Parts: sequence; C-alpha cells; structure tokens
Amino acid sequence: MAKQFSGNVFDKVQDEQRQGEVYAATVEVAGKKKMYLESYGCQMNFSDSEIVASIMAENNYIPTTALEDADVVFINTCSIRENAEQKVRGRLQVFRQHKKHKPDMMIGVLGCMAERLKSKLLEQEKLVDLVVGPDAYKDLPNLLSQVDSGQPAVNVLLSREETYADITPVRLGGNGILAFVTIMRGCDNMCSFCVVPFTRGRERSRDALSIVQECRDLWENGYKEVTLLGQNVDSYHWTAEDGSESVNFAQLLALVAQIDPQLRVRFSTSHPKDITDEVLHTMAAYDNICKNIHLPVQSGNTEVLKRMNRTYDRNWYINRVEAIRRIMPDCAITSDVIAGFCGETEEQHQDTLSIMELSGYTMSFMFKYSERPGTLAARKFEDDVPEEVKSRRLQEIIDLQSKLSLLSNEQDVGKTFEVLVEGPSRKSDAHFCGRNSQNKMIVFPRGNTKAGDYVKVKVDRCTQATLLGELVD
Ligand code: 5AD
Ligand code: SF4
Repeated sequence: MAKQFSGNVFDKVQDEQRQGEVYAATVEVAGKKKMYLESYGCQMNFSDSEIVASIMAENNYIPTTALEDADVVFINTCSIRENAEQKVRGRLQVFRQHKKHKPDMMIGVLGCMAERLKSKLLEQEKLVDLVVGPDAYKDLPNLLSQVDSGQPAVNVLLSREETYADITPVRLGGNGILAFVTIMRGCDNMCSFCVVPFTRGRERSRDALSIVQECRDLWENGYKEVTLLGQNVDSYHWTAEDGSESVNFAQLLALVAQIDPQLRVRFSTSHPKDITDEVLHTMAAYDNICKNIHLPVQSGNTEVLKRMNRTYDRNWYINRVEAIRRIMPDCAITSDVIAGFCGETEEQHQDTLSIMELSGYTMSFMFKYSERPGTLAARKFEDDVPEEVKSRRLQEIIDLQSKLSLLSNEQDVGKTFEVLVEGPSRKSDAHFCGRNSQNKMIVFPRGNTKAGDYVKVKVDRCTQATLLGELVD
C-alpha cells in the first residue's frame, strides 16, 4: 500500500536555517487527507518520519509541503540540545497562527521532545493537539480519531520491543539511490550529558532477517546504497525467538554486503567502547562496505570521559584508532566533539585538540555542552564552564577540524576514486557530485553519467569540504 508513494513522486524542500525538512507528494490523490511533516535532528528521526508516513499512508493521508493545505501537521522533534528545542517551539508558534485560520487542523508533536515533555506540551503550553513518543507511532490512527472527537491525545509509552520491523518505510525526499535502514532503537549507554536514553528508551535490536529483506527490496528497487542506523550499532545483537539463530553487528554487515557487490553499505553510529576487530575485519573483507567510521570521541581527556560516563579512556580510544589504521589504512574516521563539559579545564580541552590531531578526523560534528534536564550530568555536576569559554574552545575545535579536513583532502589530490553519482552539484548543472567510499563529496563534469552510476574520478584539486576532479575510464 505505502509503496504507491515511494520513489520520485516525492519532492524535498529543505530550509537549511531551520534544519527542518518537509516532504510532499507531487501527485494529487482524490479523497486523501493531507499531512504536513517537518523533521528535525538526527538521521534516526528522518528515518522515523518515513515510518510515520507509511502508517499515515495506510490511513488515507498523503504528504503535502503546503502548510495551509494540511489536515494534520506533524513536527518530528529533537531534544539533544536546548537550541534544538527552541527551534521547535518557534515552529509551533507558526503552526498555531495557521490553526487560527483553520481550526480543524490538528497539530502533533512527535519524537524526542514529545517524549521528554509529555503532556506538558498540551497542558502548559497549549500548543498542540497530540503528543506521540518515538515508540508509539502505530497508535497514530487511534490518537487522531481521539483528537477528531474533541479530546487531545498523548501516547509516550516507551517499549522494550517495538522496532517497527513490520512497517515498510515510505522513502521520503530521497533520490531513489541512497536509503537509511534502522537496525536498532534506543540506547543503554547513559552517557551523562545525553537525553537519548530517556527519550528513546532501552536498546533493542531489530530482526536481522527483516533488515536484510528491507535492504534486498531497496536493491531490487534500484537503490545503490544503504546506511544502517542505530545509536550504538556495535552492540547490535539479535537472537531468533526459538534461539536457532543469533546475529551480531559484524555478521549483519556481512549479510547486507552479500546482497550484491554493487550495493554500498554504510553504518552509523559506532561506539569506541564496543567497536570490535571483528567489525573492522568484516569491513576490510568487503569492498562494498564503505571505509568510513563515525567514532564519536566527545572528549580527549580521561577524567572528562569518566565524568561523561563514556566508559573508555583516552588510551582506549587511541588504541581503537590504531586498530582501524592497521586493518584498513584507507578508512576515514569522523567524530562528534563536545566543548566545555562540566568541570573541563584548559589542559583537558587541549587533550581534545590533541586527540583530534592524532585521529586525523576527516569531518566532525562539534557542539558546545548544553545541559539537559534529567540527565546524569545535570544531576551530578555543575555546568560551570562560562559561555564565552565554551564558545572560544568550540571555535578552536572548529578551526582545527577545518585544518584537518583540508589536510586530508589535499592528500587525496592525484588519487582516483570510485564515486556513486548522486546528481547535479549545488553550484552548477554541468557538474555532478557523489561520494567516494570514505564519504567525501567529489564534484566532476557530468559527461554522460547519470544519478545512480558508479564512475571513476581522478581528483585534481580540493577545498576543505570537497574534492574536485575529472572522469577517467
Ligand atoms: N550537549 C552538547 N552536545 C550533546 N550531544 C549529545 N548530548 C549533548 C549535550 N547535552 C552530542 C554528542 C553526541 C551527538 C549526537 O550530540 O556529541 O554524539
Ligand atoms: Fe547518547 Fe551516549 Fe547513547 Fe550516544 S551512546 S545516544 S551519546 S547515551
């Protein structure tokens, strides 16, 4: 059923300032109601939006990008930092203005902010009609009928089992080439700064057979790359109900890679404490498992890592980087870094800079620490690094990452890479872009290529963000 909306009938409208993505069907379907869905936050949230779209499609809703046409407005939210929540509150005010002209329009908050604030969103702020946590999307049809009958509706129950394995996501906004597949939900790690264990609940792994089947279906429908998603993919572990089969992450990677050598496989996010040599050897064994590991360090200082409850120390992290270099010399490593965590001294900040240099990250996501209510850090430690110090340290981290990215790109000049063509480059229709195995964006004159082709590109120059080159045979 949901299939009828998949593929290229979807347009994606991206507003980079809001970081919200809105999706729509370009076809009018008579008798259908319209859903406007805006997504914020991590890739997992965008993937969840595809599950929501599938559940809604089964219930007679098609997506629209026109807010004023919508019968239902959903905002899939992120709580990871304070500013993520502020953005959502701003959008809710805008939706409220629209509702004044269209009182029947229902407004729903989905995802992490729904889970964190629960019915407070209905009671205190009176901004919305329904509040739905990340494990309750199957209840959406009931909740919508409840709102229809005049009652606000909330379901924020977290589940130990729900993996949505039985839902075929509606592929929203993509180009029909790259897809994201959720392999596990929740997180059991309890990093002291992080709200995710509270908003997404306990960790659970999805049935391996359903993952492989979804990836095979994608391949058969023309997709060329799948990214396996989880908060901590290395602790993926699925056992069949009758105990006859058991699959860990390395084995799952191999199963997906074996679907076809032309299907690229990526994954995110790895945890330094859990990434095994078995995973690294599996990556090395299959050319189609892309050579890029997102291995968030957060901090380079052992004391800070301890307060963060990351359960590894500086040496352990360096050891993992060395293992990656030994087993896959051509593997790119990317990271997440937090500046100004509770109690961080200048020397401890220097340790973060030095571990970034040592690890030679090709790219990082970099943040100022933002205290989140209810987390271990909020309860145990004082958020005592002054704002201007956080800003200055973050800037030093950003400057260093810019240098490392440029250095890494310069080392690629002269090399030839296989690139999966994604489509026109941002700057010119005469140029196409795509990524190499290391996930670096490469721009080249389009020639006779089309999106979805594999081409060879010889890099002849670079910027900090992009490699540029020419097609070669
Ligand atoms: N403050 C700043 N950054 C955070 N992250 C998670 N929680 C916080 C927080 N409270 C960052 C971490 C994580 C990424 C997804 O977001 O770096 O890896
Ligand atoms: Fe948050 Fe840590 Fe889990 Fe990542 S591993 S989602 S940072 S608790």
